[in-house]
Amino acid sequence: MSGTILIGNFWGDEGKGRVIDYYSKDADYVIRTGSGCNAGHTIIVNGEKFVTRLIPSGILHDKVKCVLAQGMVIDPFVLIQEIEYFKQNFTLSERLLISCDAHLVLPYHKEIDIAREEKASNKIGTTKNGIGPAYEDKVGRRGIRFKDLFDRDKLVLKIESNLQYWNLSHINSNDLVNSLVNIFNELKEYITDNIPEIINQALDNGENVLFEGAQGTLLDIDHGTYPYVTSSSAIAGGACTGVGVGPTKIDQVIGIFKAYTTRVGEGPFPTEIAGSIADHLKSVGREFGSVTGRPRRVGWLSIPDLKYSCMVNGVSKLAITKLDVLSGLDTLLICIEQNLKSKTHRLDYLTFKGWTEDISKVRKFDDLPQAAKEYLDFIQSKLKIPFEIISVGPDRNDLIHI
Ligand code: IMP
Ligand code: MG
Repeated sequence: MSGTILIGNFWGDEGKGRVIDYYSKDADYVIRTGSGCNAGHTIIVNGEKFVTRLIPSGILHDKVKCVLAQGMVIDPFVLIQEIEYFKQNFTLSERLLISCDAHLVLPYHKEIDIAREEKASNKIGTTKNGIGPAYEDKVGRRGIRFKDLFDRDKLVLKIESNLQYWNLSHINSNDLVNSLVNIFNELKEYITDNIPEIINQALDNGENVLFEGAQGTLLDIDHGTYPYVTSSSAIAGGACTGVGVGPTKIDQVIGIFKAYTTRVGEGPFPTEIAGSIADHLKSVGREFGSVTGRPRRVGWLSIPDLKYSCMVNGVSKLAITKLDVLSGLDTLLICIEQNLKSKTHRLDYLTFKGWTEDISKVRKFDDLPQAAKEYLDFIQSKLKIPFEIISVGPDRNDLIHI
């Protein structure tokens, strides 16, 4: 396994959490490389549901070390809650490493995000977690990092200057600094200044390092459906910059996508559907945001989007999730061609036969219903990238490893 990047092929919510959980059992390190608590990864273990937002999904495996790398923007108030939540069941000491260079998402970033979203004219449909404004501060070179928490006086000056920049005179900088200092006392045991050295050393020693992607390729700031994207790099290349690891250290990239497609928030979604099939996908697939609870838009799989997404990530293996959600549909469609530049935005679909069997207990490809095999074989034939994982149910063990 060694250096493995796991990414989402579409607009997030591809079921990355459960796939990462599967690979984590053999991992030494699992790293979140970018974004923040806009992510929400769900893992169900023996019927018990765990949702991670900032802490990598590897936390559920005792021997794995979990890293929040410098590419992230971290809301320390959310992080503290998450640490308390996981501490109830897992040991975190010596297992959780937070880069001192990661940026902070502060309450005013959230306030700005929410205020912008409320102005209907430029709505992106963000998760309202302050992610965009925090990255704006980072790129504007006025961001506040975990390392700034070590010096109270400098922290006060930076926060005051940022409040002035954003025109937020109603916020009391002293109160904010006090609450950050309190939080810092609880977080400081985890803050680390040598993440690149630790991870490069681990890779050189042949240890297994998983880079846990968040969001998805089509939400990537450079390669997604701009401006309806998140503010960070969600593709495989972003994993390298987010941690400080060269591309030559990466052995494989796993592309994760659902057997159908979803999107939350605004923006183009050419294969989106409404009606009874959409209702089936939404209810059987429990298509509600794990962080925001928002209903997700749903649609058919698009081969052109999938091909594009595998290309920009250099995907070497595929993991398809939620195949079981398609059980019970008479016919299935796959978009095989889309020409978004033509006046008519023409889409061509192929129709496939559905299946009715409950497939959640299937553990071998050959035991899947014939129609399901044909659906998967078609995708495989178009992409020419092998499947490694087919997930057939919500629980940790409901998957086929090929
Ligand atoms: P932001 O990342 O909160 O700024 O939101 C920007 C866009 O990315 C919106 O369309 C969000 O719905 C979407 N988004 C951000 N994070 C996730 C995620 O983890 N899953 C799905 N969509 C996301
Ligand atoms: Mg999610």
